[in-house]
Amino acid sequence: MSKLAVYPGSFDPITNGHIDIITRGLRIFDHLIVAVICNPAKKPLFTIRERVEMIKEIFAGNPRVSVDSFEGLLVDYLKKVNAKIIIRGLRAFSDFENEFQMALMNRKLNRNIDTLFMMTSYRWFYTSSRLVKEVASYGGNIDEFVPENVSKRLKEKFGR
Ligand code: PNS
Repeated sequence: MSKLAVYPGSFDPITNGHIDIITRGLRIFDHLIVAVICNPAKKPLFTIRERVEMIKEIFAGNPRVSVDSFEGLLVDYLKKVNAKIIIRGLRAFSDFENEFQMALMNRKLNRNIDTLFMMTSYRWFYTSSRLVKEVASYGGNIDEFVPENVSKRLKEKFGR
């Protein structure tokens, strides 16, 4: 039986911190589904299509990573793809409260689903999609924090 996990998120856009978690996850699981949430209420910078496309470009040629999008409850998506483990990355302490609330809510919604937290590399401790977007919007250099394809798209978005 192959071990499968779902790595959900907004990925608006994917950063090197996310990629670090995916790489670590692949040491434990045989297959990872990167599941991008389709939630227009959050007003993302990139469309769902763009976010999925960027992740696909990065993991093209890796058959152990698939990229998908979902709407609605995460636990319902896991049921649909027959997965039982959610992976989430943890950075600073500030992530804890929200992550614990989500994990406990997901467990209440479906007792068979567990959340596995993985710590990002120290290098990406302070990297977030939000800050990357902010720096890029003012023309700052974000090349250290995101892969090349994402950096290019951010520059295009902000007309630089
Ligand atoms: O990258 P993010 O924005 O921190 O990811 C948050 C995400 C997508 C994991 C979370 O918002 C989510 O799971 N949304 C789906 C809706 C849901 O299942 N809500 C109830 C459980 S918290």
